[in-house]
Amino acid sequence: MDKFVVRGGNPLLGTIKVSGAKNSALPCMAAAILTGDELILENIPQVRDIETERRLLAAMGAEVDLGYGRAQHRTSIRCAVLSDPVAKYEIVKTMRASSLVLGPLIARTGIARVAMPGGCAIGGRPIDLHIKGLEAMGATITQDHGYLEARTNRLHGAHIVFDKITVTGTEDLLMAATLADGDSLFENCAREPEVSDLAALLNAMGAKIKGAGTSTINVHGVAKLHGARHRINPDRIEAGTFLIAGAITGGDLNVDCCNPAHLGALIAKLEACGVRLNVGNDHIRVRSGGSLKSTSISTEEFPGFPTDMQAQFTALATQIEGTTTVTENIFENRFMHVQELNRMGANITVEGRTATVRGRTPLESAAVMCSDLRASASLVLAALVADGETILDRVYHLDRGYEHFEEKLRNVGAQIRRMGDVFSKK
Ligand code: EPU
Repeated sequence: MDKFVVRGGNPLLGTIKVSGAKNSALPCMAAAILTGDELILENIPQVRDIETERRLLAAMGAEVDLGYGRAQHRTSIRCAVLSDPVAKYEIVKTMRASSLVLGPLIARTGIARVAMPGGCAIGGRPIDLHIKGLEAMGATITQDHGYLEARTNRLHGAHIVFDKITVTGTEDLLMAATLADGDSLFENCAREPEVSDLAALLNAMGAKIKGAGTSTINVHGVAKLHGARHRINPDRIEAGTFLIAGAITGGDLNVDCCNPAHLGALIAKLEACGVRLNVGNDHIRVRSGGSLKSTSISTEEFPGFPTDMQAQFTALATQIEGTTTVTENIFENRFMHVQELNRMGANITVEGRTATVRGRTPLESAAVMCSDLRASASLVLAALVADGETILDRVYHLDRGYEHFEEKLRNVGAQIRRMGDVFSKK
């Protein structure tokens, strides 16, 4: 199992480039199911979850070509024949976003068999709202042996008010509605940029979607969608992670190829802490030196402070004088990084959904364990300022969603290396 070895103490200096967003790329790849034509997706990050989705689609009969060399971030997908519309447990268990194929599969083929995702380190992760929505659109859904089976002759449009804001739930139903008979009206939708990115792709494929990016979305169902070419948004969470890397190390880092409009809540919090930011059209320069001021955060759906940045901000808070409270409102168990940060010398207590960070504490190297994607990033950030050599175990969590993470950080001065190989040499 791969590990990272990180020696702390270097300020990060230079320019670091942001890759395409994993959480946009995953639904956009699932959208390929909706047409027999070729879909070309650009700016696809080379991360483990993308490879998992490739396997998921290929197992159903899709032709998926993940580009290499100069075309390394271009992926073409053609779902001419979907001979086996099944998302198998072996794949779903490693990536909950696999449930994103449910809506498009049933819309295109009238039948879908998808393994129920279990819980994961950050919480229960139910998909009841996906199921409820598809039922309202005319699907009959049964459950047996850990699988959901959905059937319909053709989905019809529906008026759905989400009980709770869900990102992939909104995306799943949006894809289903594009091929449904009639109009759909969705309320209390997720407003995340990843939803808008998917809707832009679907509209380029011939769908009729209005309102994506707001909480009310209208979809006029069409009989058929066609191929398209689409460029995936930059990854706002990767960009945010690099901003904190610049701030925590007291560096001078230009985070390039990002979309600052997607980072409003984080930018506001970093500025409130006293981090100096110069925000351009597609880059942000982060500088920090001297002491920072504590500012509390509370995670919310977009445009609020993202849950996917909570662990990284918690690492930063350990280096800020005073008390910072971090409230996690989206997932019930997303403080797994806290115990590991405490083992490195942080002073953090958790009560219910709130972590209280008492800073500033010097961090020292330790052997620590990654528990999920963003917790892993948080531990790398802490290790960048720890005294000595930190060893991070189970970095496969990080490989699910950060492209060439250690290489990118190394190029701006971090001392970080991998022990073992993630990808086979062939
Ligand atoms: N929820 C339900 N029922 C549902 C769906 C969701 O109760 O049917 C609950 C969840 O348990 C959670 C809340 O609603 O408490 C929000 O969950 P959501 O459905 O929005 O999460 P998701 O779509 O499964 C996506 C991202 C996550 C990100 C969350 C929140 C993808 C592939 N994943 O997950 O990303 O944390 O939205 O923004 O888009 C990550 O990248 O590290 C990651 C976990």
